[in-house]
Amino acid sequence: MAIIAKPHEDITEDDVQFLRDNYTSAGGLLPNAYSGGAFFTPTHVARFIVEALRGLSGGFSAGQTWLEPSCGSGVFIEHIPDDAEITALELDETSAKVTTLIYPHANVINADALTHSRRDYYDFVIGNPPYGVSIDIAAEELPDEYVTLTKKRDRYGGKSELAFIELAIKAAKPGGYIALVLPKGIGFSGASAKVRDLAKETCWHVASIELPETTFAHVGTTIKTDIHILRKITPNARKVYVEYSRIGSEKYPLDIVKQTDATTEGSTFWYEGQQPIFHAVITDIGYDKDGKSTDKWGDGLTQLDELLEAFTDGGLVRENCDPVAPFKDEYHGFSVKVPPHEEWRVKAGHVTYWNVLTLGRGEDINGTSSFDFDWQDRIVNEYKGAR
Ligand SMILES: C[S@@+](CC[C@H](N)C(=O)[O-])C[C@H]1O[C@@H](n2cnc3c(N)ncnc32)[C@H](O)[C@@H]1O
Repeated sequence: MAIIAKPHEDITEDDVQFLRDNYTSAGGLLPNAYSGGAFFTPTHVARFIVEALRGLSGGFSAGQTWLEPSCGSGVFIEHIPDDAEITALELDETSAKVTTLIYPHANVINADALTHSRRDYYDFVIGNPPYGVSIDIAAEELPDEYVTLTKKRDRYGGKSELAFIELAIKAAKPGGYIALVLPKGIGFSGASAKVRDLAKETCWHVASIELPETTFAHVGTTIKTDIHILRKITPNARKVYVEYSRIGSEKYPLDIVKQTDATTEGSTFWYEGQQPIFHAVITDIGYDKDGKSTDKWGDGLTQLDELLEAFTDGGLVRENCDPVAPFKDEYHGFSVKVPPHEEWRVKAGHVTYWNVLTLGRGEDINGTSSFDFDWQDRIVNEYKGAR
């Protein structure tokens, strides 16, 4: 705090090094990096997200645009290449100042993220937004309407995580990626239904990765969270209307999907180019509830580090994606129930329609052809080429 209080010109390189030591990597996990309601993300979780995006997008290039809308002390920025154009927003003055000092190459703005007005601009929007904070903001301060907030007279109110997802979607450019750490309820709660509808209307659903309760143990909370990765659709992507017919038990419904049209009762849709969703459950984040390392093999790698393999070397492939539907029905937008593979194959046999509609037949289903994992990129490239 003494460093932050100094006039900018009096801050020495040693001061900045002290902040770096305390607010990056292992330091970012310490309680001294925790300030009122700000649950800072463990550095290896942030690294996983950035590296997964590197794999998914086919590699980073200089000048790509990144937004971290609630940057805290900048743990995500630590992992973004320095040659990127980084915009970081932060409401808390102290956190914003720390981040400015540690990452001078980033454009850190000490402001309410919801007042940020750039639209369709960023190649990547990443972060871990505030959860459960009540928003109360004058309509005139917002650059546009927020469908996830409720307007009463001249003010908008609602929950922070919902508004931040909306901001991320609006700020991302068509074809850009959004990767956020979010509370589990986003996937199924009635209160989050609007934001799931918004995501379904505007994005491809790429991946959902469940994190264990111990993830935020270092800041004294056992909140359950997921990493959700979405990709903003380009306007040339067409909707594919589908109808599910359910087989299997209630708990793990297996869905056979048939093409239909918008007027069929109970029909839903996704966009062409939608691929099977990558879904993973992390059971061990690398330390236990008391912060003690759980590194059994002594190689320093956590389950998340190992999971990265799935995203690199050509990105996602059929073998590591489960045949679950994207944004599955109204109240399970992101809640991906994965049936055990073998059981799924036995029950569904060779009859799976949804992949035929969007991707071609899966190789491990009928053994003759494979999913078309380039379709999404082709749609995005066609859109970029036409501009
Ligand atoms: C859950 S913390 C995460 C911080 C950082 N992204 C990380 O993962 O370590 C949320 C951050 O959002 C900031 N915040 C809360 N409301 C905000 C707002 N309206 N605009 C910008 N930042 C906000 C808090 O100060 C806090 O630093």
